[in-house]
Amino acid sequence: MSDIGTHWPYPRHIAHRGAGKLAPENTLAAFRHGASFGYRMFEFDVKLSGDGKAVLMHDATLDRTSSGRGRVDALTLGELAQLDAGSWHGAAFAGEPIPTLAAVARYTQANGFLVNIEIKPVPGAETRTGAAVALDALSLWQGATVPPLLSSFSEAALEAARLAAPGLPRALLLDKLPADWLDRLRRLDCVALDANHRELNARVIADAHAAGFKVLSYTVNDPARAQDLLAWGLDGLITDAVDGIAPDA
Ligand code: G3P
Ligand code: MG
Repeated sequence: MSDIGTHWPYPRHIAHRGAGKLAPENTLAAFRHGASFGYRMFEFDVKLSGDGKAVLMHDATLDRTSSGRGRVDALTLGELAQLDAGSWHGAAFAGEPIPTLAAVARYTQANGFLVNIEIKPVPGAETRTGAAVALDALSLWQGATVPPLLSSFSEAALEAARLAAPGLPRALLLDKLPADWLDRLRRLDCVALDANHRELNARVIADAHAAGFKVLSYTVNDPARAQDLLAWGLDGLITDAVDGIAPDA
């Protein structure tokens, strides 16, 4: 895994939260939808249940994308398993469960898909979540030819992931690029910058490459913008527009 920086194994197109907005985010229904458009790599958000199990959920609370209420970590995995994470999006997805990281590991490896696990801790659980998700990823993808790419906006979570599973590649998510962004990548021993596309231009991408880092970007939904970023050498484009931006064959 140590040569990931030089032999980048990931495709350039990555489906955001499974299939963006076309199916309920962070569910296996979304992954299947993204896959139907040819996507082979999926970004998704992971946090811990009250009993410390890794599950897919973007928000700290359940309200927006499930039939549950309140914080994700107020419920056990067993309680989360009873919730409906599909009906909010449409009746066709009624009963879709909140996936565990283990379920996603089985599904993606069975289908030859690659993953970008965004570690998205509930507030206050950064270190615990970073360590737990990295250890889970290590065992769930044990023996995989290509490891999961871990990413997070939380430097504490990434540092905990680094200590728990140093061999798993990491990317630092940045919504705004601080002046010391390269130092931050180096400190966390990251393989890539994962930046809001508004922060990127040809110069930033060239600077990252010159320093030995790959560059990913979210959430790029405009095909013309996608074309520019890829022309500048972007290595990974995270998009909701799985129906409008065709992945490489
Ligand atoms: O991982 C990239 C992107 O997903 C970060 O933003 O809020 O969609 O998780 P968000
Ligand atoms: Mg995300």
